[in-house]
Amino acid sequence: MDKLAIIGGRPLYGVVPISGAKNSALKVMAASLLSDAPLTLTNVPRLADVDMLLKLLEQHGAQASFEGSTLTLHAKDIISTEAPYDLVRKMRASFNVLGPLLARESKAKVSLPGGCAIGARPVDLHLKALTAMGAVIELDEGYVIAEAPDGLKGAAISLPFVSVGATEHTMLAAVLAKGDTSIDNAAREPEIADLAACLNAMGAKISGAGGTTIHIEGVDRLHAAEHEVLPDRIETGAYAMAVGVTGGELTLKGAKADLLGAALPVLEEAGLVIDETDVGLRVRKPEGLCKSVDIITQPFPGFPTDLQAQFMAMMATADGASSIKETIFENRFMHAPELSRMGAKISVDGQTATVRGVKRLKGAPVMATDLRASMSLIIAALGAEGQTMVNRVYHLDRGFERLEEKLAHCGALIERVKE
Ligand code: UD1
Repeated sequence: MDKLAIIGGRPLYGVVPISGAKNSALKVMAASLLSDAPLTLTNVPRLADVDMLLKLLEQHGAQASFEGSTLTLHAKDIISTEAPYDLVRKMRASFNVLGPLLARESKAKVSLPGGCAIGARPVDLHLKALTAMGAVIELDEGYVIAEAPDGLKGAAISLPFVSVGATEHTMLAAVLAKGDTSIDNAAREPEIADLAACLNAMGAKISGAGGTTIHIEGVDRLHAAEHEVLPDRIETGAYAMAVGVTGGELTLKGAKADLLGAALPVLEEAGLVIDETDVGLRVRKPEGLCKSVDIITQPFPGFPTDLQAQFMAMMATADGASSIKETIFENRFMHAPELSRMGAKISVDGQTATVRGVKRLKGAPVMATDLRASMSLIIAALGAEGQTMVNRVYHLDRGFERLEEKLAHCGALIERVKE
């Protein structure tokens, strides 16, 4: 298993190209199964998660070609409606093939998903929405077996709480359903509007995506389309937080301020100077410690749970104490003990962590536990004294494109150790 060796203490200066958003790419890729015509996606990040979903889509019959960051998918014929355990267990987003398969072929058998170990992460809302649209669903030996004998029908779906995955999955299923679907209490994450834009480019009729109520008018078929994946707001926030820890100035090429939601004012309050420029966002950290800021993770436009771990790393050396409350996932503080190994002062009480800033962290061997937690260890290591060895970096390869190359280019001492 590869490791990353990082020697901390160097400020970051330079340009970091922000990749296309992983969480959007995975959903628009799943959309390719809805049509027998090609879908061309640009700005697709080359990540382990993307490769894994590609394998699954190919197994269903899609032909794929990747050139640079342009991915063309063509699911002319669906040759299998079964998504096997081995291809779904490693990544939760693979589960999203269920809706498109059901919509196009009226049946599917999809393994229950895996993904980061950050809590129970059930899929009950996904299944309830599909059932409301006329699917008959059975669970058998870890598989969801679904049929829609008369095809999917539009339905009024009201989510009991905000779920990104359930909102997207409902949209993916509803575009080809007979009649109209509405989703109330829909998630408003930018990736939802991006998926709607892609589906609309394919001929779907979706309005309201990005707001709390989404309307979908079912159509008979979708056609060929091209779509550009939006920039990754989590990667953007993570590099900004790295500057918060190391000092220096980075230009985050392609990044957009409005995608950061509540993370933007929080970063500014913590002491970062962030300017929008023609090419993206310029992030600068003036001399001195970061200021401690309290946060609560919330659905968009609130502070994203996917930046909570990285923010904790930044607060570990801030001036004062910061309270970090996680409200989306029940087990998302696994990075706290690892950061403590580096000298961070963190106490966790239920869903709230209190971080008391120390002057400097010290390098140590640490273990990456999930995707975003891994990035928090990298950020901590970049500011720490001495060497940190981050084990289990395969988590990072799932979601951060060319991480060590991007960081090394800006002055970080970071090296992959192959084993
Ligand atoms: C997506 C993102 C993930 C991000 C999360 C919240 C992808 C691939 N992943 O995950 O990076 O952290 O949004 O912004 O886009 N829940 C249920 N039943 C369901 C569905 C969800 O109880 O059927 C719960 C989850 O366990 C969680 C909460 O709802 O506690 C929110 O989950 P959700 O918004 O669905 O997250 P994901 O789509 O899994």
